[in-house]
Amino acid sequence: MATSDDSQALDPSRPWLELAPHYERARSKEDSLDRLVEWPAQRDLLGDVTGRSVLDAGCGNGGKLAELVLDGAVDSVGVDISGNFLSTPPPGLELIQGDLSELDSLPELAGRRFDRIMFLQSFGYAKDPVRTLKAARAMLADDGFILLTRTQPIRYAVEQSEQNGTSLGEEYFSNAKFSYVSGWNDQIALTKRRYTISDLLNEFSAAGLWIETAVEPQLPEEARRRYPHKQAWMNKHLGILIFKLRAH
Ligand SMILES: C[S@@+](CC[C@H](N)C(=O)[O-])C[C@H]1O[C@@H](n2cnc3c(N)ncnc32)[C@H](O)[C@@H]1O
Repeated sequence: MATSDDSQALDPSRPWLELAPHYERARSKEDSLDRLVEWPAQRDLLGDVTGRSVLDAGCGNGGKLAELVLDGAVDSVGVDISGNFLSTPPPGLELIQGDLSELDSLPELAGRRFDRIMFLQSFGYAKDPVRTLKAARAMLADDGFILLTRTQPIRYAVEQSEQNGTSLGEEYFSNAKFSYVSGWNDQIALTKRRYTISDLLNEFSAAGLWIETAVEPQLPEEARRRYPHKQAWMNKHLGILIFKLRAH
């Protein structure tokens, strides 16, 4: 019989069934990096969403999508494995419990097209990253784009090298999976596959996507002064990478 550790190794999304509310609680804190750095940068790249349809793959509780709908987005859908959703999403927003690895077989998405498709800190859970991106690409409306963010992989190399007494390069280029306990709940471990920057770029390429813009957002000056512990974290871990991707 598989132990819970075995089943997590087989399905890295599984811990999210329990972790989701803890993540949302942490995200809503006034000094969360999502609130201070990530969401402002993501929102900026999305631009004016009036009349645009948005698909959010790995949408969390759907809070970011709800903001977009209040800003004028229409016919929008969020998909998340956790099913931990806002209790009253605004009209024009549908939240579906489902797997982002199966976007092409979710009945609610059949035949749909979207102006914006987002993978915000969720792409790492795709079982087959290129297949998932190809499925998203096929759902893009003309002139649509994908907004995809991932943790800077050097962050994990820094943490693992400190933990294992190894060098940065050994960890960055290692193929072994690793587990780490997130700051959202210290009882729940996440299992991650390693990736390098070139792995990511090659996945975009293999899915027929090109990078229109790449951003590595940092804390604004005022937030650096107000939250020096967050600046110290960013100085060590670098933050996230954001890509705006278009179909060839
Ligand atoms: C770090 S959170 C990011 C949430 C949200 N996108 C944001 O930016 O705040 C990762 C999210 O991916 C979801 N997730 C993990 N594996 C998934 C899968 N296979 N299919 C759909 N969602 C998944 C988790 O439940 C969680 O809500």
